[in-house]
Amino acid sequence: MIPREIIDEIRARCDIEDVIGGYVTLKRAGSNVKGLCPFHSEKTPSFTVYPSSQSFYCFGCGAGGDVITFTMKYHSLDYAGAVEYLAQRAGITIPQSGEHEERGVPRKRIYELNLAVARYFRECLFDPVTGREAMDYLVNDRKLSPATIKRFGLGFAPNHPFALLQHLRSLGFTDEEMTAGYIEAKSQKTGKPYSIFRNRVMFPIIDTSGNVIAFGGRVMDDSKPKYLNSSDTPAFKKSKNLFALNYAKGECAERMILCEGYMDVIALHAAGFPYAVATLGTAITSDQARLMTKYTKKVIITYDSDEAGQKATDRAMQILGEVGMDVRVLSMSGAKDPDEYIKKYGAPQFSRLLDESKYGFYYKLDGILAKHDINIPEEKIKAAEEITYLISTFDSSVERDIYISLSSAKLSVVPEAMKNDVERKRKRSYRAAKAKEEQNARLAARGIGDKVNPDTAKYVAASAAEEAILGLMLEFPEHRSAVVSGRVALTEDDFVTALGKRIFSAVCELEASDGGFDYSLLGESFTPEEMGRMQKMMRHRRELSENGLDVLINSAERLKNEVNKTKIKNTDDRIAAIEAKRRRLKENS
Ligand code: UTP
Ligand code: MN
Repeated sequence: MIPREIIDEIRARCDIEDVIGGYVTLKRAGSNVKGLCPFHSEKTPSFTVYPSSQSFYCFGCGAGGDVITFTMKYHSLDYAGAVEYLAQRAGITIPQSGEHEERGVPRKRIYELNLAVARYFRECLFDPVTGREAMDYLVNDRKLSPATIKRFGLGFAPNHPFALLQHLRSLGFTDEEMTAGYIEAKSQKTGKPYSIFRNRVMFPIIDTSGNVIAFGGRVMDDSKPKYLNSSDTPAFKKSKNLFALNYAKGECAERMILCEGYMDVIALHAAGFPYAVATLGTAITSDQARLMTKYTKKVIITYDSDEAGQKATDRAMQILGEVGMDVRVLSMSGAKDPDEYIKKYGAPQFSRLLDESKYGFYYKLDGILAKHDINIPEEKIKAAEEITYLISTFDSSVERDIYISLSSAKLSVVPEAMKNDVERKRKRSYRAAKAKEEQNARLAARGIGDKVNPDTAKYVAASAAEEAILGLMLEFPEHRSAVVSGRVALTEDDFVTALGKRIFSAVCELEASDGGFDYSLLGESFTPEEMGRMQKMMRHRRELSENGLDVLINSAERLKNEVNKTKIKNTDDRIAAIEAKRRRLKENS
């Protein structure tokens, strides 16, 4: 637990407008400020910061909360991490006493477990008998030097169902810990525990602080799946980590290479490009993109040259562009991926490709021009169509202007004609985006597509009453004390949605605790999306003039009535169905 005084201190010293203003361009709108939401892509600002309540809320995606929630979501940190981050920013020291306890197996313990596992795998690889085939595969088939194998801590998971588990038990690790760390699983048929990674060469994944956080393992033949990766554990979130960032972080200030796989990264590092990283078998996420921006300003995408790789390139360009990265794309021909390319043509040639890598626009322009023979007028029209669309996606008019003059020269058409088309397409897509935003807002208002609290669709009226009650309790101390003292009779069981129940009991628990209620402390048990939902409830109450105790009492009655109605309705339906069946049986006999 982080001491309350620290939380108070952080809130006093980290003004939400200052903090968010460091990442989002905010413009004044009345007593609040607005900007483009950093958590979803939008064309019109719906991300609002409320300096008076030190909170934020996005009308587009529903994210919201306080300065701690923002920091959690923006920097992909947990609650304690966000508090630490802000404390550091404000020069507050957090007392180190009372290590904060996590639920389940603590992250630190998984680090220890993984380290023991990585050592075991390494010993197996270097064992002349156990590791013979794996070493042969790495050295002869994949052409890795012993130095590279050691540097990346590669290993081998022997083909034995439980030797690793026994070894770990002898070191004092429990089966619960091994299961939580994605090292052990239980057979569905026999219920016997077995090791998850078997007969694979192993790649440890290490975070920027040097902890072994997960593993990837590759088969040595053509069997499937080719790679097996750790699932998320208390120590690992696949969508928030990058392979080899621990090595690349000190080498990538000038540029970073993003590739698809483990072997590409290792081949690149070995060939003198120690600033390569890879996502872990998934498309790049915005969390990973933001993580990169901590270490570099420029990234060169070198995905596989096949169609899937090109699709992934388009998506990665977009995601990396959104976090403000200078994105280039390397075009490779004659080989499928960087590993193969370097083996075939050598490192100096690859280095040339890196230097020639193009800005996203030129890379896409080349792709369009390669598809159409512009000597044929109809094909030229198609190419112009695609190019004007591409240019219309750039927000800066200077950029659009430069690209228009460049491509109109390539196509030999007058720039004005292209410019007209570009601007028309921009207007059209602006209108479409706006319509979509409005539709989403309407759907969200009706509780449709509600991902934060999916139960609202099932209990429309009851969940509205819940939100009124919770909004009042979150916003006003007198409503909290009315409930906790029992003056207004309400219990967790009266609530119908799962999120409503959780919020209610968390608010009551805090209210009854020594320090009393504090919205910021909820961040420890609720996601930023859920924190945002609470902001919405509170904001809604603030906008209403009637917030007296009678509103709370009425809402509580309404909630109970709605719940009864649903129950009665169900019973009525059931009785009606039984009677209908009885009648049918009678008629038939
Ligand atoms: P590739 O099949 O392109 O990998 O998958 P690669 O690294 O080039 O493979 P080899 O070893 O040279 O043949 C790219 C990445 O996708 C993930 C892995 O992270 C891999 O490095 N992947 C691939 C999986 O997670 N599971 C799979 O079954 C295949
Ligand atoms: Mn490969």
